[in-house]
Amino acid sequence: MRIAVISDIHGNRPALEAVEADIAQLGADATINLGDLVSGPVDPIGTIELLIERNLPTIIGNHDRYLLERPPEKLDSVDRFVAAELLPAHFDYMRGLPKTSEVAGEVYMCHGSPGSDVDPWLDNWWTGRTTTMPDEASVLEKARGVDFPVLLCGHTHIARIVRLRDGRLIVNPGSVGIQFFHGAPDARYALLERRNGKWSASLRAVAYDWDNAAKLALANGFPNWTEALTTGWVGAEALF
Ligand SMILES: [Fe+2]
Repeated sequence: MRIAVISDIHGNRPALEAVEADIAQLGADATINLGDLVSGPVDPIGTIELLIERNLPTIIGNHDRYLLERPPEKLDSVDRFVAAELLPAHFDYMRGLPKTSEVAGEVYMCHGSPGSDVDPWLDNWWTGRTTTMPDEASVLEKARGVDFPVLLCGHTHIARIVRLRDGRLIVNPGSVGIQFFHGAPDARYALLERRNGKWSASLRAVAYDWDNAAKLALANGFPNWTEALTTGWVGAEALF
C-alpha cells in the first residue's frame, strides 16, 4: 500500500499540480491532505476548486479554520484577501472537513499535533530563520495514546521523518505551496509505503514554475511572497 501525503498547499495551485504529476508518475493508491488549503495569494480559488473536484481525504488546517471562524478584521492580510475571494460553496467544503482523521486504522492525520491545529509537533517552530528539532520527550508526549503505526502532521512546513522507539512513524510531509527555511522553493510532499507489514516514508521535493507562482502572488498584491516562493529561505513572519 502506497499513500501520498500532501499538506499546507496555501493556495498554490501550480505547486499542487506539479505534486499531482509527480505522484501520478511514481504511483500511489491514495492521496491524503493535512489542511491549510487556500491561505495564500497565488491562486486560492483555482486551488479550492481543484481540491473540491479531487475530493481527497482531507482534514482542516488552522488557516482554514480562521477563514471560517474570524471576521475579516481579525484575519491577517493574506487570509483577508482569500476570504473576500472565496464563494459560499468553498466555505461549505471547508466547514465539512474534520479536525483529525485516519486511514484504515493504520494512519492518523492531524494538522499541528493531536491536541491542537496550531501546536507544532516535529519542529520548535521558528526564531528568525532558525528551525530546530524538539527533544524526544516532547515529541513522545504528544504521541501518547495515539495508537496508529503512522502519525501524520503538517503546519510547520518543515519536512521531517521521526521513528519513535516503539516503532511508530511520525511524518511531516512539508508544504506543497510555500517553503520556510528549507532553502529550496521546491514543492514538498511525502510518500508512505507499507511493505511486509512495516511502514516506511520518503520525502519528495518537486520543481515547478515558482517564478510564475510569484508573478501571480504579485498580481494579487503580495510582493512580500516573492522571496519565499522563489527561494524557500523566508519564514512565515514575513508572509502573513
Ligand atoms: Fe500552513
